[in-house]
Amino acid sequence: MLKTKLGESIRKTDSELTSGARMFELRNDIAANMGAHWNVNSNVFMSRLSISRILYLNMLYQHIVDVPGIICEFGVQWGASLSVLANLRGIHEPYNYSRKIVGFDTFQGFSKTHELDGKVVSEGDYSTMVDYQHCLDEIMSLHELGSPLPHIKKYELVAGDASKSFPTWIENNPQTVISMAIFDMDIYHPTKEVLMQVLPRLVRGSVLVFDELNCPQFPGETLAVIETLGLNNLKLKRDPNQPFCAWAVFGE
Ligand SMILES: C[S@@+](CC[C@H](N)C(=O)[O-])C[C@H]1O[C@@H](n2cnc3c(N)ncnc32)[C@H](O)[C@@H]1O
Repeated sequence: MLKTKLGESIRKTDSELTSGARMFELRNDIAANMGAHWNVNSNVFMSRLSISRILYLNMLYQHIVDVPGIICEFGVQWGASLSVLANLRGIHEPYNYSRKIVGFDTFQGFSKTHELDGKVVSEGDYSTMVDYQHCLDEIMSLHELGSPLPHIKKYELVAGDASKSFPTWIENNPQTVISMAIFDMDIYHPTKEVLMQVLPRLVRGSVLVFDELNCPQFPGETLAVIETLGLNNLKLKRDPNQPFCAWAVFGE
């Protein structure tokens, strides 16, 4: 198992690493010349992995179109999923300005890990770059400008350890109903704490999403689910292209 400079665990063959690096160079050389339609034409660099991820998020999104409430993502990192979700809102429910999308992250990588997290993870893994929260804020606002009702801000980024920032955020937003909660912090303690606090905010039909279920590198996320909900109380499903992702409709 390889770990990148940012502490990300990756499973890639040498040829995947080489072709990925070459694609990166080509993208840097070519994207600036793509002109007005660069954002569509740059799809030429999209990989099977990114397309699979978008299809997965799209499938999840379709399950909540008739469910009230906001979307919360716990563990945002660069915002790869958060930004897709914001665009999916513009596609699937352009006028539903109540579907706020709220992303919680330390923006400094993993918070303190627990012995139940195993040996691979360390505090600070999956960090991004200094002041990235503000870059992502700008990116999200630009995505919003390209969607219906751009004058209504429909996303929020909340910095800090989610086990502390989420209860504070709920205190300030007591009306909150959650239609979809995505757990992608990978580690035990914040996943367990937040999951317990999320439960009273779900309706039957809300979607719970776990990004690292049954994942040997990140045992903490599964343990948090076992200790809060119990695996056999959920009808967990998976997607053929997302090896460790699992999701369930709450109350089903
Ligand atoms: C795998 S990344 C998330 C990837 C993202 N969901 C995506 O789809 O691109 C895990 C993230 O969890 C965040 N994280 C870990 N512990 C956290 C905590 N206690 N509170 C908030 N965020 C946390 C890390 O900072 C990191 O950005």
